Amino acid sequence: MEHLLKLLDLDKEEIIDILNLADQLKYENKNGIEHKILKGKTLGMIFQKSSTRTRVSFETGMYQLGGQALFLSNRDLQIGRGEPVQDTARVLSRYLDGIMIRTFAQKEVEDLAQFGSIPIINGLTDFCHPCQVLADLMTIREYKGTFDGLKLCFIGDGNNMANSLIVGCLKVGMSISVACPKGYEPDAQVLEFAKEYGDKFTLTTSPAEAAKDADVVYTDVWASMGEESEAEERKKVFAGYQVNDEIMSVTKKDAMVQHCLPAHREEEITAKVFEAHADEIFDEAENRLHAQKAVMVRLMADK
Ligand code: CP
Ligand code: NVA
Repeated sequence: MEHLLKLLDLDKEEIIDILNLADQLKYENKNGIEHKILKGKTLGMIFQKSSTRTRVSFETGMYQLGGQALFLSNRDLQIGRGEPVQDTARVLSRYLDGIMIRTFAQKEVEDLAQFGSIPIINGLTDFCHPCQVLADLMTIREYKGTFDGLKLCFIGDGNNMANSLIVGCLKVGMSISVACPKGYEPDAQVLEFAKEYGDKFTLTTSPAEAAKDADVVYTDVWASMGEESEAEERKKVFAGYQVNDEIMSVTKKDAMVQHCLPAHREEEITAKVFEAHADEIFDEAENRLHAQKAVMVRLMADK
């Protein structure tokens, strides 16, 4: 693995290897065992969108591994004034040992990797959110002990989270069922990929159908970053796509709930369901730290 641009690029073994290392790093972190594997290394973190979890977990993770992280806001970088990604990539490759980027177009992330000469990590684009799904899979395995035979349902917008969950779940052997309104389906490239997995993937407009016998219920905001102007319209379109008691009544009895956060209570999830599953949701948020440390070790440690 040279970069983490999207989960489509990884095979099952690479994903499981990251998850195993993440489990080990988490255990060691909880037991005071330090690794300064990235001593002397610097990660640049380019943010063209807001972030709480991604920024803090990458910065802390880098510190725990003995390196340092630089927060590079779009407002301050020349990239925000139009300097081409091709040039930014070649310049930053001369200073840094890796770049994490959160931006709009997936192409920008792919271009950084093409023109730069250091590992690039996708910290969210409109297309996908691979770091989040690695943490999600880690959390699911922690709670359920396995991926075999598990079904995840995603209820809501066919957005970056839906795209990455479809790829991640199918690659590790889970089934996934997505319920979204017409016109808000996941990306065509992802739907094409999912075809190879037969009935392990289903797409429906019915949340209850997707949630039936699910082991994991997942949802995300109805309007993602960059879609703020559509928020009111989307509230109407997604009104029936809420994770609530009715949905939880058709899942498996011991179903867990996951949310990448930030959450909008009483929109995509009721406060009641959210609070009933808060431990699972905040373990998931914590696991961003451990999963991303594993990614950085695999990409940035001296070989
Ligand atoms: N889930 C997630 O990526 O959170 P942030 O937007 O706060 O980084
Ligand atoms: N779909 C959301 C995920 C935030 C972590 C967004 O892109 O805003």
